Amino acid sequence: MTASEITIVGSANLDLVVDVDHVPLVGETVLGGDLRRIPGGKGANQAVAAARLGRRVAMVGRVGDDDGATILRAALEHDGIDTTALVTTSGSPNGVALIAVQADGDNAIVVSPGANARLGAGDIDAAGSLVAEAAVVLLQLEVPVEAVGAAARAAGGTVILNPAPAPVSALPDDLVDEVDVLVPNQTELALLTGFDGDVDVEIATRLARSLPVSAVVVTLGADGAMVVTAAEAVHVPAPTVAPVDTTAAGDSFCAALADGLVRGETLVDATRWAVRVGAATTLRRGAQPSLPTPDEVDRLLR
Ligand code: RIB
Repeated sequence: MTASEITIVGSANLDLVVDVDHVPLVGETVLGGDLRRIPGGKGANQAVAAARLGRRVAMVGRVGDDDGATILRAALEHDGIDTTALVTTSGSPNGVALIAVQADGDNAIVVSPGANARLGAGDIDAAGSLVAEAAVVLLQLEVPVEAVGAAARAAGGTVILNPAPAPVSALPDDLVDEVDVLVPNQTELALLTGFDGDVDVEIATRLARSLPVSAVVVTLGADGAMVVTAAEAVHVPAPTVAPVDTTAAGDSFCAALADGLVRGETLVDATRWAVRVGAATTLRRGAQPSLPTPDEVDRLLR
């Protein structure tokens, strides 16, 4: 195994996507468009996004042994991603995400983790140098937190944790201690800090500073992002766009942040790049089909 620039430890899901006028309320049924089957999953999306931005990428994770696994593996390999540490789990279904995308581009997602839930510390050990020698290890929370913690401890480079989906309980201290850059959205930041209210730019700064992580980049949707360290708090605005589908915009943001750091940019400059890549991602439909190359970012935001 050769060292990758960015190693992703995380999930791969088959996204079952339906366009709807609005996501249903509890007890409501809505009619939508035709069902689309699209490769997704926060981990795999971040891997594909980083590869399309030009980085050498490896993916550590688990897929099931059904037809969907062939689609998920092929999608990663099509973008040149090292899948030697993507384990096929016999007897297990794939991760699947049920996604309703509203007319305004916002979505609601339910994930059935399937094989993703079987990822363990042993898989991180087996990945060896792919985790230990990567310049950046990019983590999310769609796989068991034990595996995420093991990856953070095994990483020799910069550890970025995107705490998505929002954690239902406090993150273990021995994971948080290993994180160099935390990338929550407003909901995740509120949950992590026990804050019960709307998170704006000022509150995001205060909440981020209360976390025991030296650098926090809070994604703020249409308001861009906030970079918070002990030394600075910098608001990075987003370009104005008319989103058609926000699925995977957070994933491409994280991948672009990692891409910028690998290329030696400061955290603020990497965040400026990430905001542009995230915004461009909202202008096309579907998780992995929407992830742009650098040229496509410029073209989409022109
Ligand atoms: O972040 C978007 C992703 O979340 C989707 O691709 C879906 O699989 C869920 O994991």
